[in-house]
Amino acid sequence: MRGKKILLVESDATDRSLMVDRFNQLGYQVSVVGDGLRAFEKIAGDHYDLVMTELNLPHMGGIDLLKKIKKVNESLPIIFISAQAGVTEAVEAMKLGAYDFIVKPLTVEMIEIIRSQLFDRAIALDRGKPEAKFAIITENAKMNRLLQEAREIAHSQAAIFIQGESGTGKELFARYIHNYSNRKDRPFVAINCSALPETLLESELFGHEKGSFTGAMSRKKGKFELANHGTMLLDEISEMNIQLQSKLLRVLQEREIDRIGGTAPIPVDVRIIATTNTDIEKQIRDGKFREDLYYRLNVIPFHLPPLKDKRDDMPLLARHFVEKYNRLDKRNVKGLTEAAVDLLMQMPWKGNVRELENVMERAVLMCKGDFIDEKDLGSHEKMRAVETARLTTVPSVSLKEMEKKVIFHALDQTNGNRTRAADILGISVRTLRNKLNEYREKMEAQ
Ligand SMILES: Nc1ncnc2c1ncn2[C@@H]1O[C@H](COP(=O)(O)OP(=O)(O)OP(=O)(O)O)[C@@H](O)[C@H]1O
Ligand SMILES: [Mg+2]
Repeated sequence: MRGKKILLVESDATDRSLMVDRFNQLGYQVSVVGDGLRAFEKIAGDHYDLVMTELNLPHMGGIDLLKKIKKVNESLPIIFISAQAGVTEAVEAMKLGAYDFIVKPLTVEMIEIIRSQLFDRAIALDRGKPEAKFAIITENAKMNRLLQEAREIAHSQAAIFIQGESGTGKELFARYIHNYSNRKDRPFVAINCSALPETLLESELFGHEKGSFTGAMSRKKGKFELANHGTMLLDEISEMNIQLQSKLLRVLQEREIDRIGGTAPIPVDVRIIATTNTDIEKQIRDGKFREDLYYRLNVIPFHLPPLKDKRDDMPLLARHFVEKYNRLDKRNVKGLTEAAVDLLMQMPWKGNVRELENVMERAVLMCKGDFIDEKDLGSHEKMRAVETARLTTVPSVSLKEMEKKVIFHALDQTNGNRTRAADILGISVRTLRNKLNEYREKMEAQ
């Protein structure tokens, strides 16, 4: 346990030095700040194993700090330390997910308890929490409204339809609803309707009896039966063919399924969540999706915003993925430089959060120092496109000059590889070559 990092948020100088000494003796690294705002900045920019904070703090109080931390890093254990034993506050803190509440003065014994009972155990426990794996990281106002609505409707039986571009977190959102529902201890079964040919999809959904078709060697339960009393995610529902759509509609109306080759219907109680990243209304207009099924599925609709519309989440998400891949890849990257965050903020993010996750996974592996900088993100082709775009906005040079700059910049970025540079610039290699000849001739003429 030696070397674990504690963030101590304490405004009283005497208490502060006392605790720091004690924790240092025990072999922990301690960072100290005197107010909630600074504490949150520290947490956003670095990794800690435990936060110990006073309740009454200047600028941002302990409870607000706890709420903010929980949004960024749900599994980080937080202990409150307070001079007065305010029961109300203690209860509130615990309800909001604080690990413990300790009354000052901190005795040597208390610190020992923290060490032996809590520190080692809390970290191990929290890291392994299944919910932590499906946490939705956001501070965006629109997303928070959607999450609030999701929690409010989680208990109902009504079908839910989640729309959003690819990689916006639709599946994660569906799990979130399941985890907040009273079905949370029952199965969550997901099926991707675009991944299977239609006959297989039908038997996957409804199951089959032995010998009901060539290859049906034994009886098989369908996903509907497996999801009984739980939630079923019908992912990419718009890809389902029209005949199967009719069968699904019947299941939703009757609340029973027919196994392929079966003789009697089987009652099922399943909460349906469907998703799509296509324009479903256009599909209805084109006759590819049944309107009546759509109305059955779309009882409670959610539209998840693309990442470009929630750029304020970028630093949090980036930091979250650094933590995730530090853990998975056994790395110890401490965070991102400001320049790296700036660059992330400017990217188009067509692939949304999934693309950001991929970029961060790679950056964690590429990072040589403590912090991910622009270079660690830099070899991603799109980053270069952003760099190039940024350069083209430099004012007060002629268009020709600007063009030359952009071309050399692209060549710089690709270590002189003309094919890739031309690709980034969106011109042919031949045009690039002509331009370079033109510059050379000009130079020679001067
Ligand atoms: N707010 C978020 N916080 C943390 N992780 C997120 C968030 N949003 C998305 N992710 C992560 O991004 C990845 C993509 O999310 P998910 O699979 O839920 O997206 P999707 O909308 O279903 O994508 P697709 O349409 O491509 O199936 C997952 O690894 C998910 O955990
Ligand atoms: Mg998905």
